[in-house]
Amino acid sequence: MAAHTFFFFIFLFTNFCLYSSPTTLALFSTYHPPICHDHEKSALLQFKDSFTIDEKWLVPCDPKFEAWKVDGGEEASDCCMWDGIECDDITGHVISLDLSSSCLLGSINSSSTLFQLLHLRSLNLAYNRFNYSSIPSALGLLPNLTHLNLSYSFFSGPIPSSISNLSKLSSLDLSTYYGSKLKTNPDFKTLIGKLGNLQVLHLDRVNMSSTVPNDILAISSSLVSLSLVECNLRGEFPFTRIFQLLPKLEDLLLDSNPNLTGDNPFGVQDTSLSWMGNLAKLTHLSLGGSNLVGEIPSSLANLTNHSVLDISSNQLTGNGSKIVV
Ligand SMILES: *[C@@H]1O[C@H](CO)[C@@H](O)[C@H](O)[C@H]1NC(C)=O
Ligand SMILES: *[C@@H]1O[C@H](CO)[C@@H](O)[C@H](O)[C@H]1NC(C)=O
Ligand SMILES: *[C@@H]1O[C@H](CO)[C@@H](O)[C@H](O)[C@H]1NC(C)=O
Ligand SMILES: *[C@@H]1O[C@H](CO)[C@@H](O)[C@H](O)[C@H]1NC(C)=O
Ligand SMILES: *[C@@H]1O[C@H](CO)[C@@H](O)[C@H](O)[C@H]1NC(C)=O
Ligand SMILES: *[C@@H]1O[C@H](CO)[C@@H](O)[C@H](O)[C@H]1NC(C)=O
Ligand SMILES: *[C@@H]1O[C@H](CO)[C@@H](O)[C@H](O)[C@H]1NC(C)=O
Ligand SMILES: *[C@@H]1O[C@H](CO)[C@@H](O)[C@H](O)[C@H]1NC(C)=O
Ligand SMILES: *[C@@H]1O[C@H](CO)[C@@H](O)[C@H](O)[C@H]1NC(C)=O
Ligand SMILES: *[C@@H]1O[C@H](CO)[C@@H](O)[C@H](O)[C@H]1NC(C)=O
Repeated sequence: MAAHTFFFFIFLFTNFCLYSSPTTLALFSTYHPPICHDHEKSALLQFKDSFTIDEKWLVPCDPKFEAWKVDGGEEASDCCMWDGIECDDITGHVISLDLSSSCLLGSINSSSTLFQLLHLRSLNLAYNRFNYSSIPSALGLLPNLTHLNLSYSFFSGPIPSSISNLSKLSSLDLSTYYGSKLKTNPDFKTLIGKLGNLQVLHLDRVNMSSTVPNDILAISSSLVSLSLVECNLRGEFPFTRIFQLLPKLEDLLLDSNPNLTGDNPFGVQDTSLSWMGNLAKLTHLSLGGSNLVGEIPSSLANLTNHSVLDISSNQLTGNGSKIVV
């Protein structure tokens, strides 16, 4: 066996030396990416078939399933060619599934065949209707997930702690509609504390009343975008420390948390405003409709890189006229 392999290698090698360029060219021009694996294809079809496709809904949606067939000719039978699917060029495994706004209606649980797609790196199921299912804890079994987007999809219940298993996660969007029943656990700190690569965290309208704002500080220092709009946050938000601990932060949105107070977000007492220096990267600061009290410092005007600044509906006073956004 070993000898056989050895001679085969010699054969390849001499061939390569003799016809180096043409062989290489031929290799590339006839290269076909691998077609999808049968078990992943059937997992996808069963996943799709576990839902009703309901196009009659207020929010426009577009089912991507025209080509999704067991047998639809050479091209259609390769699931890597289907709408919403991306496969790895070398292994042929499904690595990305984008079924956002695909008119899916129905429940989902951890037995779903979705969780057989073990190689997924990106999963987007935003803007479907999952009938107030819990977010399946089996998501914690997809070890290579870097992007998870389940926003505006009618999930309910607590965010499962298994999400903390997703150590490669860089973007998590679980934002939802007003009146949702999605909430964070009291151990939210443990959950996000393990997501060391997180850059984007959007949890708009997730009920975070059981989370102390200070727990946010457990988040990864690589965070770039944090959006916690209308999250029922209560208590003092650690503005001073967050800008020290999250030097890459560009977006901070905390609007409509009426019971949120600040440790002087604009540094009334801390006249040195040392944390302001850390705001240089901030391009979007939105704090409207919270209960922040204090005086807006004129130094805010120095933050020329703000593309959006909304500090309306707070009890802030001061020389706002100087602020040019
Ligand atoms: C939604 O869930 C309820 C019960 O939780 C069930 O009775 C109903 O059939 C489900 N609807 C769909 C479309 O799955
Ligand atoms: C999960 O959902 C499927 C249908 O999608 C259902 O047949 C099964 O009973 C559910 N399992 C659990 C544990 O609820
Ligand atoms: C996850 O990614 C690593 C590194 O890219 C790879 O070696 C491994 O096979 C992947 N695992 C799965 C289940 O795709
Ligand atoms: C976390 O991931 C490991 C390895 O992929 C797996 O064995 C374990 O069951 C997962 N835990 C949860 C809670 O999903
Ligand atoms: C989640 O998906 C929706 C729909 O595709 C998109 O609008 C939104 O920006 C995504 N969220 C993130 C954090 O990328
Ligand atoms: C948020 O969660 C708390 C505690 O879990 C609950 O008492 C409260 O009613 C919830 N708020 C909303 C708007 O659902
Ligand atoms: C804010 O706190 C007050 C008093 O504790 C409470 O009555 C009110 O419901 C809270 N509002 C929100 C949106 O949490
Ligand atoms: C504003 O942004 C530009 C480019 O994004 C950067 O070069 C510049 O240093 C920033 N200004 C400040 C005050 O940080
Ligand atoms: C704002 O910029 C002006 C002019 O560059 C500078 O004199 C002042 O110290 C700055 N203020 C703060 C708080 O950084
Ligand atoms: C506001 O700015 C103007 C012009 O720079 C200055 O004359 C005035 O004293 C400032 N008012 C306060 C309250 O800082």
